[in-house]
Amino acid sequence: MTSISLSQLKHECTKLLSDNLKISSREISLEVNQILLFVLKIDNSQLLLKKTISKAQYEKIKKFVSVRASGKPLAYIFKEWSFYGRSFYINSSMLIPRPETELIIDILKEKNILNDNVELLDLGAGSGSIGISVKLETKNKINLHLSDISKRCVHGIKKNLQKFDIQAKVYLSNWFENIPNIKFDLIISNPPYISYKDPHLNELHFEPKRALVSKNDGLADIHKIIKNSIHYLNRQGLIIIEHGYNQKDEVQEIFNRYNFNQVKSYKDLLGHYRITKGLFS
Ligand SMILES: C[S@@+](CC[C@H](N)C(=O)[O-])C[C@H]1O[C@@H](n2cnc3c(N)ncnc32)[C@H](O)[C@@H]1O
Repeated sequence: MTSISLSQLKHECTKLLSDNLKISSREISLEVNQILLFVLKIDNSQLLLKKTISKAQYEKIKKFVSVRASGKPLAYIFKEWSFYGRSFYINSSMLIPRPETELIIDILKEKNILNDNVELLDLGAGSGSIGISVKLETKNKINLHLSDISKRCVHGIKKNLQKFDIQAKVYLSNWFENIPNIKFDLIISNPPYISYKDPHLNELHFEPKRALVSKNDGLADIHKIIKNSIHYLNRQGLIIIEHGYNQKDEVQEIFNRYNFNQVKSYKDLLGHYRITKGLFS
């Protein structure tokens, strides 16, 4: 059986990606590595020892790399992506979970915000990555509710719940429209918040616009969620919202307009304010 040198393959893949993608050489080498690990189903230490691969593996890897060279993100090629150390099922109707969103889980863990029997709603849950991670990362008993406006997201959320063996209620809902009349202790949302005018949108054309953009300079959905949350929060209930790096002042102003207390914003690792919380009392 013909075997092919792994270093030759790496060289070919690196060239194909460099010729077609506008990403750094470091990112290209990381992505080639990720594709090799995914297709060969081995870990980094096994890959270091590997010198050759079969013709069939070569063909498969080249196929993955040429799809990636067309611009399609790896998460949609692999149909999975990592969030807070776990691999979530991903389909093309879902936003690819971002590392900056992990800050929400860190805040909840560090501040010991959660009590037992908390009713938690993840609004616009996408893959369900936030709500599911909160439930798996905290020791508290959480009654989890997840919602999204997209049928394919709702389908994917159910797949992820099965994957992690978690019980939760899932709703197909335009924000609060189909959410039952429950009072929640915690509402979390990473809603669409990019302005239609934002030039960065061109770089994100594989991800669903509905997951990304919002009217009124990106603030329309955040406003709608905060405004309506007061009918669904318990007294002393908390809402945590992710937003754009330059929206902190506007988001805090919306929280204040609806009389939320202890409004506070948190910075991501790059030093940008990306998460704001408010207490309903
Ligand atoms: C920025 S994505 C976040 C997805 C996921 N929570 C995450 O952090 O990866 C926003 C999500 O909100 C959903 N969405 C957009 N408009 C909505 C609406 N009117 N009602 C409910 N969900 C909506 C989108 O389908 C998408 O899944």
